[in-house]
Amino acid sequence: MAIYMTSDASAFNRIRAWLNKRCGMHYPEKKQELLLQRLMHVCETQEFSNLFELANALENPDLRELHSQVIDAASTNHTYFFREPQVLDYFRDFILPTLNKEDVRIWSAAASTGDEAYTIAMIATEAKGMEWARNNLSILGTDINKQVIAHAELAIYRRTAIEHTADDIVKRYFESVGDGQYRVNKQIRNLCTFRNMNLKTAPYPFIRLFDVVFCRNVLYYFDEVHQQEIIENIYDATQDGGWLLTSVTTTLRHLKTRWINVGAGIYRKDINHVY
Ligand SMILES: C[S@@+](CC[C@H](N)C(=O)[O-])C[C@H]1O[C@@H](n2cnc3c(N)ncnc32)[C@H](O)[C@@H]1O
Repeated sequence: MAIYMTSDASAFNRIRAWLNKRCGMHYPEKKQELLLQRLMHVCETQEFSNLFELANALENPDLRELHSQVIDAASTNHTYFFREPQVLDYFRDFILPTLNKEDVRIWSAAASTGDEAYTIAMIATEAKGMEWARNNLSILGTDINKQVIAHAELAIYRRTAIEHTADDIVKRYFESVGDGQYRVNKQIRNLCTFRNMNLKTAPYPFIRLFDVVFCRNVLYYFDEVHQQEIIENIYDATQDGGWLLTSVTTTLRHLKTRWINVGAGIYRKDINHVY
C-alpha cells in the first residue's frame, strides 16, 4: 500500500502530527507503511472515504471515541509474560530484597495487555510469598490504549503469551479456560489494577510515589523531546532511592536526565535526592 494522491499524503502527515502532539508517538520513515495500513483500517471501519476525511474528523474535539480508535490503532501492543529476563532477574535478585516495607508500589507504565504487570506480581509472590504480596504489594498497569487495558483486566491469554513462562509458574498462577486460553488466577489478579493513561499528559495523577517503575519497550516510540519529558515525569513520580527499569536495549544516555544508570536498562533515583 502506498500513498499516491498528494492530498492523502498531506492528510497522512496531519494525522501523524496529531498523534505526535496527542500522545508523543513518532513514526519514523521505515514504520510509516505500517501506520498507513492501520489508518486505512480505521477509515474502512468508520466509513471514511479517505485519509483526508479522517484527518478533518480528528480536528473535532468532541469526537473522543474516534480519537481513541485512532490512538488504539496506531499503538503497537506486542508483549508477553516474562519478557526480557535480564531486567526481571535484576528486579528479583537486587531490588525486591530491598523492598522490606509496607505498601510497596510498582508501576508498569506502558502495560499493554497486562502481561508485564502480572509477571511482576508472580515474581514478587515467588520471592516473598503470597501473604507478603497480599498485605504489602500493589501494582498499577497503565496504557494509552483502552482496548488493551480491558484485556489486562480480563487477564485471559493465548498460549503464545506464556510460551516463555516456566511450566511450574503456569501451573501455579494460571487456570485453563478452554479454547487454548489461560486466565491469571484471582490471587495474582488482585495484586494488579489497570488504568487508561497517556504518559504524555503531565502532571501525572498520583498522590503516592512508586518504588519501582517498569517503562519497557515504549520509549523508542517517542521522539527525543518526549522521551526526555516522560522519564523526568516518571522520576518525579518515584520515591527517593526508587528504580526505573527500561529495556536492556533502551539507553537514556542521549538524554539529560536525573536518573543514575546502574546497569543495562536499570536506573535509580538518587537516595539523597534534593528537590
Ligand atoms: C510494545 S508495548 C510494551 C508492553 C510492555 N511494557 C512490554 O515491555 O512488553 C508498548 C505499549 O505502550 C503504549 N503506549 C504508547 N504510547 C503511549 C502513551 N503516550 N502513553 C501510555 N502508553 C503508551 C502502547 O499502547 C503499547 O501498549
